[in-house]
Amino acid sequence: RIFTLPSNAKKNTLVKRPPRKGVIIGAGQVGLACSYSLLIQNTLDELVLVDINQEKLEGEVMDLLHGSPFIEPTVIKAGSLADGIGDNADVVIITAGSKRLPGENRLNLMQRNTELFKKLIPEVVRHCPDAILLIVTNPVDIMTYISLKLSNLPSTSVIGSGTILDTARFRYLLAEKLQIDPRSLHAYIIGEHGDSEVPVWSKVNISGMHLCEGGLEECTTAEQEFLHQIFKQVKNAGHEIIKRKGATSYAIGLGVNDIVKAILRDQNRVLTVSSLVEDFYGIKDVCLSLPTIINRYGIGRKVNFTLIETELQQLKHSSEVLHYAISQLKL
Ligand code: LAC
Repeated sequence: RIFTLPSNAKKNTLVKRPPRKGVIIGAGQVGLACSYSLLIQNTLDELVLVDINQEKLEGEVMDLLHGSPFIEPTVIKAGSLADGIGDNADVVIITAGSKRLPGENRLNLMQRNTELFKKLIPEVVRHCPDAILLIVTNPVDIMTYISLKLSNLPSTSVIGSGTILDTARFRYLLAEKLQIDPRSLHAYIIGEHGDSEVPVWSKVNISGMHLCEGGLEECTTAEQEFLHQIFKQVKNAGHEIIKRKGATSYAIGLGVNDIVKAILRDQNRVLTVSSLVEDFYGIKDVCLSLPTIINRYGIGRKVNFTLIETELQQLKHSSEVLHYAISQLKL
């Protein structure tokens, strides 16, 4: 006998706090990158993977499980929502859907992925009524808005990965040019996770020292061209990677893990995630990314972000692009 229970041990000595449980729907490259990031950063106690391709799903889970001795213990399971395996999850991460082909923009995926969500979201809410929904499927702002409508969940419980990755790319590329750690540079991409996204130049700062507090206009022509090229790299990064390897995965996986950590550890992190905008400079009834406080309730508070006029006009354009896309949808 390896273990002996002390004689005065109460029943259920190992009373466990409810596990930090996450479900990932879609075990493609993005879903698996999310899984791997969550595992190696010990974000969950229980990870459930759901996918229509059962055989591939079993192989992926077997492969992840064999790494167990190298990481903190995490229960990893494969299954379907119908069999109850994902019941009572804290967070449901949705990466399922068609992905962009080279040359496509994210909005091209809208109707295809909406048809999938019309079946999927009610099923998710039935099995995980108290979960925070974290939407990654593109076009993520539209899919976040649709998930909010289809789920009837409070808007604080429906989050899209939004421009968290664009913001990371922006910070990385600026920090690389300035030769500092990207974690020491504050910079935000807001609006659509897509072609109309907005670089907030007026807020780029290192230890409070602004790059151009009045916006690009206050820079020289050469500086403006240099900085504009950096933003072009940010905006086209997804397309450039898809052209070379077929999909993006690792960075979005790490970004999703950051959001889940902020929720499960109640961190009050400020992240540029997509969520319902109720009235921001007159922008309303659309999901797009703004700096948002993320905690155990999902969306904790919105940051009252001030914008200079050019940035505000670009954000309003971004919201109009999304409003128009939603108006074209057959829900
Ligand atoms: C990208 C995907 C996540 O930008 O849309 O890489």
